[in-house]
Amino acid sequence: MQTDIDEIADGIYRLSTYVADVGPDGFTFNQFLISADEPLLFHTGPRRMFPLVSQAIGRILPLERLRWITFGHIESDECGAMNQLLAAAPQAQVAHGTLGCMVSLNDLCDRPPRALVDGEVIDLGGKRVRHIDTPHVPHGWEARVLFEESTGTLFCGDLFSHTGPCPALTEGDIVGPALQAERLFQATALCTHTAATIRRLATLEPQLLALMHGASTKVSCGESLLRLADAYQAMVEGGAAR
Ligand SMILES: [Fe+2]
Ligand SMILES: [Fe+2]
Repeated sequence: MQTDIDEIADGIYRLSTYVADVGPDGFTFNQFLISADEPLLFHTGPRRMFPLVSQAIGRILPLERLRWITFGHIESDECGAMNQLLAAAPQAQVAHGTLGCMVSLNDLCDRPPRALVDGEVIDLGGKRVRHIDTPHVPHGWEARVLFEESTGTLFCGDLFSHTGPCPALTEGDIVGPALQAERLFQATALCTHTAATIRRLATLEPQLLALMHGASTKVSCGESLLRLADAYQAMVEGGAAR
């Protein structure tokens, strides 16, 4: 396995590791590094991927400069390596929503995390990230996404996940492949508020959707969020047939 690095927006790096034996045609595990006065990582990758991910970070900036460790929800690919990163970067701190800290991270993190309220911004110095609570979207009570204001980047986490090898950025449709993967994995918590939560993300008017699994895109971002919301609404109304 190898971890590829692409700068997909000014100062925003996608670290991507393709794992061939997940799903029918493999699956990418992506982390995003925001280079700023206070560098921030979104998704740590699984614990066993730490050697690859930490080396990739080190090709962009000294690992010990990492200041913020963030992710969408509590799963190994989201945060499995957080304590290894805390050990490697002495100034680093996990930042997550208040609920996630209360339920899990105050206990799981080797150093106390910073708890954020919905809409709270961290000024990274050159970049600004807004924390947005999205409970149970795509899954997990503590789920959240992150929006970088200067580039209009929405870090979507598992939203729009799709399988297979892929480029860092695509101009193709990401909704169709996401719905295909949804039928395969059935990973999304289909709730009465799922569609409304995703539609609210479209009001941010994102210019870049940064996906944890699959290709990111700068094309039709708001429209893709609305189409994804419509598809989930139809599943909920149709009795969750995917
Ligand atoms: Fe997940
Ligand atoms: Fe994931």
